[in-house]
Amino acid sequence: MQVRALEFRVEDVKEPVGIFVFEDDRENLNFLGGLRDQVEKLLSVENFKGKEESIAKVSLLVEDKVRVFYLVGLGKREKSTEDTYRTASALLTKRAKKDNVKELYLYAGELSFRISKAVAEGAILGRYRFDKYKTKKEEEERVDLEMLCVHGADEQGIRMGEIFAKAQNFTRDLVNEPGNVINPITLAEIAQRVAQEGGLQCRVYDEKEIQEMGMYALWSVGKGSATPPRFVHMVYKPEGEPKARIAVVGKGLTFDSGGLNIKTGDYMRTMKMDKSGACAVIGIMKALSELKPQVEVHGIFGAAENMPSGTAYRPDDIIRAMNGKTIEIDNTDAEGRVTLADALSYASNLGVSRIIDMATLTGACMVALGEYTAGLFTNDNGFGEELLELSKLTGERMWKLPLDDKKLREKIKKGEGDVLNSGGRYGGAITAAMFLEEFVKEGIKWVHLDIAGPAHLREEFSYYAKGGTGFGVRTCLEYVIKLSEGENQ
Ligand code: BES
Ligand code: MN
Ligand code: ZN
Repeated sequence: MQVRALEFRVEDVKEPVGIFVFEDDRENLNFLGGLRDQVEKLLSVENFKGKEESIAKVSLLVEDKVRVFYLVGLGKREKSTEDTYRTASALLTKRAKKDNVKELYLYAGELSFRISKAVAEGAILGRYRFDKYKTKKEEEERVDLEMLCVHGADEQGIRMGEIFAKAQNFTRDLVNEPGNVINPITLAEIAQRVAQEGGLQCRVYDEKEIQEMGMYALWSVGKGSATPPRFVHMVYKPEGEPKARIAVVGKGLTFDSGGLNIKTGDYMRTMKMDKSGACAVIGIMKALSELKPQVEVHGIFGAAENMPSGTAYRPDDIIRAMNGKTIEIDNTDAEGRVTLADALSYASNLGVSRIIDMATLTGACMVALGEYTAGLFTNDNGFGEELLELSKLTGERMWKLPLDDKKLREKIKKGEGDVLNSGGRYGGAITAAMFLEEFVKEGIKWVHLDIAGPAHLREEFSYYAKGGTGFGVRTCLEYVIKLSEGENQ
């Protein structure tokens, strides 16, 4: 679907028109001109009050032609945020798609750069479906929503929103692919293709090179699978001197069966999504090749499949990671942190000042925060705060959890190696984050996002369909843009 900024009058278009209306201020209805009274009367039948996340469709005959209007509620004006517009926009395109609308118009008032961007994002995110494996498309005969024309919008904002949302949808497509289609080898190939198309550098290391680099942690997790692991390093370099150099690192388990500590059926279901962090990295790198910010960005992930077999790594194994630290395996199902040990060690050697990692790391984080909020952990409060602020704009909910509990830290220091890969049940998201911190080089500012909950949804909600969400893509992109527009770091 295309989104365009376009000035139009209700009288001059024949296609359906969406109008966003506040609960306490229906000024936007003036856009209807002479039709306002009629529409208001029909709205009172629909009991439409402009409440947030409400939508009403009204149809009327004007000079013998049917005109369709979608009224979308924004709630109270003073409470509205960028995400209010993003959600309203998604509601509108979802509904229009269902109603077989091909071309849609929208009036939402005079829109700033940021709000125009949010409207474009919501429209594109809301329309998303993962239905490529339905051989007989339910909607075979149906037309698809192809165009949204937005009145009073900022062209640049629309363009940027389009890049952000398309990158997020690309990530969602990858997350939704099952383990028989995306394995460590094919995921690395996808990264390579994205890099090639976007003019990025990309280096893929195979299982032999992984061992040569001393990445025995990643290698061990992958060695139980018939498909060997891969390590992927993508780079976006701007022209001229970059304002900052950063790395984004993702957990890339193409499937997590638990390994020898095998999961039960219920918990194994949906574990194709355990690659969400890596898929977010690929989506981010794709967008950067279009946004061209003045920041050097390294996109990094280890791809592996955690399987039980005669060649699988075991509980009790003691493994040396790339930075020289040894890991004792308590539980083969705590595999994500083991692969990230090497990815973070590698990222620490690139001369970057900051690292953000995204990982579907712990069920414990979902117990703590629910399915819709990511846990944020950091060794630098200023950096953490910057991301938390941006997450309020993007609607990607994040909440800070602590790393300063010395007693909890002792739990991963027990055993015969330098670190133990599980700290037990209590504070599970925190001990996992503390484990990761062991592999981030001193002096590098680091944020870890535990996205186990929000990376994947069992049911549709807001601008998300069920399945992969692409969580983290937009907040990370906002951060890169912020660095690009700010002082040298
Ligand atoms: N990939 C899982 C975490 C997960 C769980 C993500 C549910 C999304 C939804 C991770 O590898 C895992 O198995 N973690 C264990 C750690 C435990 C064995 C210490 C967990 O959270 O149960
Ligand atoms: Mn696991
Ligand atoms: Zn996992």
